[in-house]
Amino acid sequence: MVKMRWMLLCMALAASLSACGGGGGNDAGEAPAGDAAPPAETENGAAGDAGGGDLEATARPIYEGNCMACHGTDLAGAGSFPSLQQVGADMTQEEIAAKIAGGGNGMPAFEGRLTDDEIGALSQWLAAMK
Ligand code: HEC
Repeated sequence: MVKMRWMLLCMALAASLSACGGGGGNDAGEAPAGDAAPPAETENGAAGDAGGGDLEATARPIYEGNCMACHGTDLAGAGSFPSLQQVGADMTQEEIAAKIAGGGNGMPAFEGRLTDDEIGALSQWLAAMK
């Protein structure tokens, strides 16, 4: 009986000691990361909000209304209209946005027909296609 209590006590001590040690280490480790996070988050804030499902929900209807006729249902393209399925591998978001705004070579210019926000959402969405 006495032995059992000691064992339990030792286990409890060991657990609390290691918990304290681990906690201290985590705090020290998290501090620099925490300092670095806010600027990154503010920069990505808009992009992060628009990311994932939101971006898809914003960009896809714009694509369907303005681009799908040429670039296809699944971004697959057709004939002289290039596929956009891998466009993010070839073009940066800025290049895609410039192409949408300026058009050229059979691609209509969407500047003035789409807002900057719409072009931004589309280009961000397409830049992730790779
Ligand atoms: C009238 C047909 C047409 C429509 C509508 C159209 N495009 Fe295009 N698009 C083209 C053609 C043709 C090209 C090839 C132009 C070139 O080679 O420079 C192209 C090229 C592109 C490219 C560059 C692809 C690459 O690999 O070089 C992007 C990005 C693009 N279109 C996005 C869009 C988006 C986004 C929309 C809707 C806002 C849209 N396009 C609407 C015809 C169209």
